[in-house]
This record gives sequence, structure tokens and C-alpha cells, in this order.
Amino acid sequence: MNVQWYPGHMTKAKRAMQEDMKLIDLVIELVDARIPLSSRNPDIDELGKNKARLILLNKSDLASESYNLAWENYFQEKGYHVVKINAKSNASVKIIQGVIQKACKEKIERDRKRGILNRPVRAMVVGIPNVGKSTFINTFAGKACTKTGNKPGVTKGKQWIRLNKNVELLDTPGILWPKFEDPAVGLRLALIGSIRDEILNRTEMAFELISILTTHYTGILEKRYEGIEETKKAEEILYQIAKSRACLSKGGEYDLDKAAMLLMEEFRNGKIGRITLEFP
Ligand code: G4P
Repeated sequence: MNVQWYPGHMTKAKRAMQEDMKLIDLVIELVDARIPLSSRNPDIDELGKNKARLILLNKSDLASESYNLAWENYFQEKGYHVVKINAKSNASVKIIQGVIQKACKEKIERDRKRGILNRPVRAMVVGIPNVGKSTFINTFAGKACTKTGNKPGVTKGKQWIRLNKNVELLDTPGILWPKFEDPAVGLRLALIGSIRDEILNRTEMAFELISILTTHYTGILEKRYEGIEETKKAEEILYQIAKSRACLSKGGEYDLDKAAMLLMEEFRNGKIGRITLEFP
């Protein structure tokens, strides 16, 4: 797959993140709740070793609620703190505050033993592009009372968003790169719209989506599009979608590419329902 991602970018981003890691106690890693594994880069485990770890299953409003819970359990069992959130909503910020204290309990305890009281937990948001890092930081900052300035010597050039007396957040997120070695990962990233889909065959993508929907979300396509029989082949289902939505080419024929775009668009903005594409 020909994905535009340059090694130079990766090296630079990684180095910047390594530097930022020195300043923080807690890594807040955002993943997309619809594809929690494909939307993370496991290298963060190495980069963030010795740090408290919190995984946020973001865009959980677009993902299936029962799978959200299954994924929460999955990551909890692996030793992460985890919360499903919608980065656009203030309610999520509230929930996270408590979890941050829990995730950093050891650090707070260590501080206390050394006689350091009330040193805020410092955190950094990381994740691959498009998982909602900026949205999350904006929501976080929107609630925050102060933006703290540079602290000479220690945090040169860094802006911290102070949420309350207990938590400060680095205002620039760390960007991880998706892992593309597995074509299935690339496909899922493209389905949620994280990679531009011009580089992939859209009808192939739609077939994959149809296959996941008919296997794991029985009845959902029949409910959304007229005349669908889910027992039919993906190609026939896509053809029926083209028919039911009058996706026509210039020559007046049913246009599978148009139907594929329509299907994926409706999936991405949640019109088909809350859909998770990857299962623990
Ligand atoms: P990034 O910094 O990690 O690259 O991601 P960013 O915050 O730019 O978010 C990418 C897109 O995901 C944005 O949509 C944003 O609104 C949306 N988004 C972020 N968090 C959530 C969430 O929890 N739920 C839902 N449903 N969407 C979320 P966009 O189309 O690029 O912008 P806009 O149309 O929302 O303005």
C-alpha cells in the first residue's frame, strides 16, 4: 500500500516525544474506539515505560456500546487505566479527572513521602492522527481555569494547561504513526477515514465494511437501505445500495464507486449506527 508517511517525520516526532516524556508523569493515549488496536502504535509502550498510563477509547459515541465495554475490559486486563469518552463532550473531562488521580496514585504517594505536597500530575496526550487529540485538548482547556506560562529552565517553551490544582496537561499532543505492515490495519484506518481513501480501492473497502456489518451487525443494512438481502454477496448488496439511493454514473448505470462512498460516509458519521470494526 502506498501510504504517504515519511520516515523523516517519524524520527522527528519520536525524538520530540522522547523529550516531552521527560517532563511528564502520565501518558494519556487516545485510540479510536471503533478500531482500538489498529489506531494505536504499540511503540508507545516502550516510549512511555515507567510512566503511568491511561488509554482513552475516544469517539465511543460512534462505536458499539457493548464492544466499548469489552475493549475497556481488554485494556484493563493488560494493566492500563482506561475510559471510554467522547472528546467533544465536557462530561468526559470530569470523569477523567478522577481516573488520572487513580492512575498516578504511586507518584502522588512517592511525592508525599518525600515531603512534596500538591505537585500537580503532569500529563501528555498522544495518539495517531485524527483520533481526536486536538479536540480533547480543546475540551480540556475549555474547562481549565488557567494556561500556565513557560517555566524557565525546567519546561522551556512548553505551555501547560492547568485543569485544576492536581492536573496539568502539555498543550501540544505527541503524534504517533499508525502501523501499516498489516494490510487489514490500513484498511480499517481507511474505513474510519484516517487515511485518505483515494489510495485504496473504494469498492473493495465497501465490500469489507459490508462483510463486517452482515457478520456482526445483522439486520443493520436491511434497516438502512431498501431492498437489501444480507445473505447475498457483498457485491450484490453494494449494487442494491446503489439502486436504493440512485447512485448513477453519467451513462445512467448504477455506480458502485458512488455507492461505496455513500456507504462509507454514512458509516463514518454514525448514520448506520454505532459500529465497532475490531473485536477483542
Ligand atoms: P487529532 O488532533 O488527533 O488529529 O484529531 P482531531 O482532534 O482533529 O479530531 C479529528 C476529527 O474527529 C474531528 O472531526 C473531530 O471533531 C472528530 N472527533 C474527535 N473526537 C470525537 C469524538 O469523541 N466523537 C466524534 N463523533 N467525533 C470526534 P472533523 O470532521 O475533522 O472536524 P469537525 O467536522 O468535527 O469540525
